[in-house]
Amino acid sequence: MYTALPRPLPAAAEAETVTHLEIEPSILYFGTPVVLLSTENQDGSFNLAPISSAWALGHTVVIGLGREGQTAHNLGSRPDLVISLPAPAQWPSVERLAPLTGRNPVPASKPEGCRFEPDKFAAAGLTGEPSQLVRPPRVAGCPIQLEARAARVRPDASGDFVIVEAVVRKVHADSRIVVPGTDHIDPAAWSPLVYNFRHYFGLGPELGHSYRTQTPPDAKEPAS
Ligand SMILES: Cc1cc2nc3c(=O)[nH]c(=O)nc-3n(C[C@H](O)[C@H](O)[C@H](O)COP(=O)(O)O)c2cc1C
Repeated sequence: MYTALPRPLPAAAEAETVTHLEIEPSILYFGTPVVLLSTENQDGSFNLAPISSAWALGHTVVIGLGREGQTAHNLGSRPDLVISLPAPAQWPSVERLAPLTGRNPVPASKPEGCRFEPDKFAAAGLTGEPSQLVRPPRVAGCPIQLEARAARVRPDASGDFVIVEAVVRKVHADSRIVVPGTDHIDPAAWSPLVYNFRHYFGLGPELGHSYRTQTPPDAKEPAS
């Protein structure tokens, strides 16, 4: 029977005795933040999709999308999008979106049980709020919202996905996660919603920080 390991795992010195198995997992979702992508449909309505294959490179967010989904379809023609980052407590709304697509008819490549939903905001119990620079709405209640434009949308090596490079144009942050008087997100106040092998987690306690941090624990007050 599977018994969960203690978290965190034992430190490196003890790990020397660990046995590694060669396995063939069906997925490699090793724990990345969930984002909600708002995009514009052909008829001017808006689609919303949860995505965990997203990471930032400077002010560009690189996103991996199923080629046949409505989000990839929309970004190929209408490049504006909003990348909203939900808080851990919002995971039930995210999961309500999981079996839905904005694509009609539903592509054969979608998993069994996936169904067309034209109003995913309502289906998830989420509300849109107007963006400033792009037409797709932000997701109200998400602590971080990034207005962006897809500068490149191209096929990945397998042909099953597209890789989107989205350039962020405006950042909206809940005032409660911003270090007062600065433009810094307070890492102690913000937690992403992490998608970890198809399970949802928030962050655990802080372990340490980079030598490059601009928000060291003892310097959260604005410089005088
Ligand atoms: C937490 C979570 C993370 C997901 N991550 C991705 C992803 O990174 N890329 C992707 O293409 N689909 C991902 N999906 C699946 C899409 O959300 C799903 O295919 C959805 O139908 C896409 O909607 P659309 O067809 O309207 O764009 C994820 C789903 C969930 C619930």
